[in-house]
Amino acid sequence: MKDQVSIYQDYSCSYDLLDEHVSCYQELRDAHLDALLSSDQEGRILDFGCGTGNVTIPLLEAGREVVALDTSEDMLRFLKSKSEGLVGLTLFEENICDLSLGCLGERFSSITMMNVLYHLGDPEKYLRKFYGLLSDDGRVFVSGPSRGIDVDGLYERVKADLSDGVFERYRNDFLSIYEANKKLVASAALYDGGSLKELCGGQGFLMESYDDSFYYGNNYFAVFRK
Ligand SMILES: C[S@@+](CC[C@H](N)C(=O)[O-])C[C@H]1O[C@@H](n2cnc3c(N)ncnc32)[C@H](O)[C@@H]1O
Repeated sequence: MKDQVSIYQDYSCSYDLLDEHVSCYQELRDAHLDALLSSDQEGRILDFGCGTGNVTIPLLEAGREVVALDTSEDMLRFLKSKSEGLVGLTLFEENICDLSLGCLGERFSSITMMNVLYHLGDPEKYLRKFYGLLSDDGRVFVSGPSRGIDVDGLYERVKADLSDGVFERYRNDFLSIYEANKKLVASAALYDGGSLKELCGGQGFLMESYDDSFYYGNNYFAVFRK
């Protein structure tokens, strides 16, 4: 965890270029948002591993109440500045396993974790915690890498998809995104449909959908219910 936190120290400064310019990131972000906002669940949302807030902010703008949690102070600094003036946000910079339901408030109708599960060394522990935090008909929206990641290939595809001039303008930022991803994938936990279903099923969750067409076929988006 210590290494990961230090990677996000640098990554945080260029991270939001993904949100602004990188279509494969935008598509995955929108899959989370569409599913969260079209779900019949109206209650509170937990954005676990919220990072700089690219899912949290649109949810707040849509009038939803969000508890956002991340262990990286650097990523959260950007979320804090982007959320100024918005209502409905509670922020935690903590390990969720150390927080009680009393401290987090009432149960959540949805838990979203975009590109976070692959970081977790003990995912069962977190999923057990989420099961207890969800309302009886609650859902978990989860995404991450599904197969070995060719960071060089992905970088080239992202570069080719950028609008004219964007790469040249932010060349150093894109290089630091590349370097951060190179370090992060070295320890990434990958899940295909079968292993994700088994992992989450082992903690009581039922898989509703699994789509691994994101990030040029390298990343999945899945929905589970309690
Ligand atoms: C790839 S970023 C994703 C950020 C955001 N969800 C998004 O998609 O833009 C992964 C985030 O997970 C956070 N993270 C990693 N392990 C975590 C943990 N155990 N608890 C909370 N956050 C964690 C990192 O600090 C980082 O901000």
